Amino acid sequence: MTTEQWHKLGPVETLRRQPLQQIVLGELRIALSYADGKFGAIAGTCLHDGGPLGEGTLENDCVVCPWHGYAFHRHTGQCCTETTGAVPCFHLKEEGGDLYLALEPATPVVPSARPPHPLARDPERAPGPLRVVGVSTTIMNRQHPRFSTSDYLLEIALAHAREQGGAETRLLTLNELNFRACEGYYSKGAETCTWPCTITQQDADDQMQQLYEALIFWGDVVLVATPIRWGAPSSLYFKMAERMNCIQNQITVANRVLIRNKVAAFIITGGQDNIQAVAGQLLMFFGELGFQFPQFPFIAHSRGWTAEDMDTNVAQVRASAELRDGSCALAGRCLALAGALLRADQPAASTERGGRKAHPI
Ligand code: FES
Repeated sequence: MTTEQWHKLGPVETLRRQPLQQIVLGELRIALSYADGKFGAIAGTCLHDGGPLGEGTLENDCVVCPWHGYAFHRHTGQCCTETTGAVPCFHLKEEGGDLYLALEPATPVVPSARPPHPLARDPERAPGPLRVVGVSTTIMNRQHPRFSTSDYLLEIALAHAREQGGAETRLLTLNELNFRACEGYYSKGAETCTWPCTITQQDADDQMQQLYEALIFWGDVVLVATPIRWGAPSSLYFKMAERMNCIQNQITVANRVLIRNKVAAFIITGGQDNIQAVAGQLLMFFGELGFQFPQFPFIAHSRGWTAEDMDTNVAQVRASAELRDGSCALAGRCLALAGALLRADQPAASTERGGRKAHPI
């Protein structure tokens, strides 16, 4: 029989002022809770991905992890959100007005049987032809859509990549995806913004997953199309970009580069000017994620500050052979660079299908 080793945590009077707190004893993290006149102590490191349970919240006797919402019973350590898994729990005693913790856990850790999230896999390129992801960021009424000049040019670029470049293409229209805005987990601490994204792990219905799949795993090229809104990209673009912080943050917190050998380029259209500022914004962000850029990485069109005849804008863009040619040429430059990057990295990788040259265009 072992004698329990007790560690004095402090005065009961003080410790019961907080419903949940993190106690750090060397390597040991404890989530200490107090509710309904009783203390509870469980290991403070989340079974899921190491989140600090003591910094979470208390809900119905369960300690909810601040990172992805897994919860553990504050007395037993049993997982409340899964059918399996438990963190160790610890004995406590009160003596002389102080609270003591037994340093040996009273129960063992029980791993969760839940499989890892599908996005947690390694980003390996599946063999096949070059693949182009088009991302439309323009916003419009879903029931009564209007003509979008940036979408129009994006579709031309994708058709060219498919028909002339032998690429596979996929169009993601952000206006049709239901996804939550970034909730700022990074602001709690760099480690809190995880890959897969904290929201994606919590919310299976969040459709940002489609974008992650396309950009990290499927595509070799991403073509982002945006209108200019008050001198900036579309607000939907920013909503997407904020949710992509988790991709860049992997480089910072885990030295893990998720984007390799991928190319980005941009289509920017607007009634007023500021094309260069919008392009600068996009180039900086996608560069930070790890994308490469072709020579002349964007095409753009704007009517300029003094042109208020926006009713003629659509007609002008539709009639412009230069913009059509420019969209095709942009797709061609992207495919040429993506092919060169893949060949340089994997000389044996096949980018041909059915005997047809996939690139260059
Ligand atoms: S680390 Fe705790 S829920 Fe993911």
